[in-house]
Amino acid sequence: MSGKTKDWWETFFHEFRPFFQKISPKETNAQVRFYLKHLNLKKGMSFLDCPVGIGRIAIPLAKRGINVTGIDLAESYLIELEEKASKRNLPLKLFHSDMRRINFNGEFDTAGNLWTSLGYFEKESDNLLVLKKIYTALKPNGKFVIQVINRDWVLNNFSSSDWTAFGKVKVLEQRIFDYAESKSRATWTFIKEGKETAVDTSIRMYSYHELKKLLEKVGFKNVHGFGSLNDDPISRDTREMFIFGEK
Ligand SMILES: C[S@@+](CC[C@H](N)C(=O)[O-])C[C@H]1O[C@@H](n2cnc3c(N)ncnc32)[C@H](O)[C@@H]1O
Repeated sequence: MSGKTKDWWETFFHEFRPFFQKISPKETNAQVRFYLKHLNLKKGMSFLDCPVGIGRIAIPLAKRGINVTGIDLAESYLIELEEKASKRNLPLKLFHSDMRRINFNGEFDTAGNLWTSLGYFEKESDNLLVLKKIYTALKPNGKFVIQVINRDWVLNNFSSSDWTAFGKVKVLEQRIFDYAESKSRATWTFIKEGKETAVDTSIRMYSYHELKKLLEKVGFKNVHGFGSLNDDPISRDTREMFIFGEK
């Protein structure tokens, strides 16, 4: 019998959980304020967080009276988030789904794909499908934000390996850049109490002009981006890209 081997993103995020500590609450709050401003997001409006993770952005938005719907493939993240939301009495709607398979239609005022959550799929048509599905989920004139790492920065600052430590967990990331496919291919080795787990990952990296074209191809208008939360322009020196578009 030949069972299909799992794709990296189906198992990786279980191990990745400690990395959420890398973004401080202060940084997350600054991001939330930035999104509220640029999406013109007000109490009572709706936001589709695709994928939602452990609710890093969803919880603060819900606290401000935004109606948040979150989707994610990692069941453990959704369970954790459900518990957090119910403790705080926050009415989040959560769905367990692959981001390519969501089927909302014209329901949301705003949507986000945040913290480099695009580019996981080997086939480019699948990455494009995520953007199409989010576009379809928005109301006419609905606003979208995508936050991804900037390919131009990655190449300008390329590092073939990095160590990170979280308490008892040590993580070694070893990367090569695949120029033909514009993919960062990395082996992440998680070392916990002497036990090693290695996962091979691959993320499609986009430059600003390329992602802008992709968003326009999907139908987004008024596509514009920033390289920082201070509205700086995107350049090879800005690690993050925050790109906005409108349906
Ligand atoms: C880097 S995290 C970002 C989470 C969240 N957007 C944030 O800003 O904190 C990427 C998320 O994508 C989810 N994910 C990975 N592959 C997915 C897929 N095929 N469909 C839906 N979610 C997926 C992971 O479970 C994880 O929560």
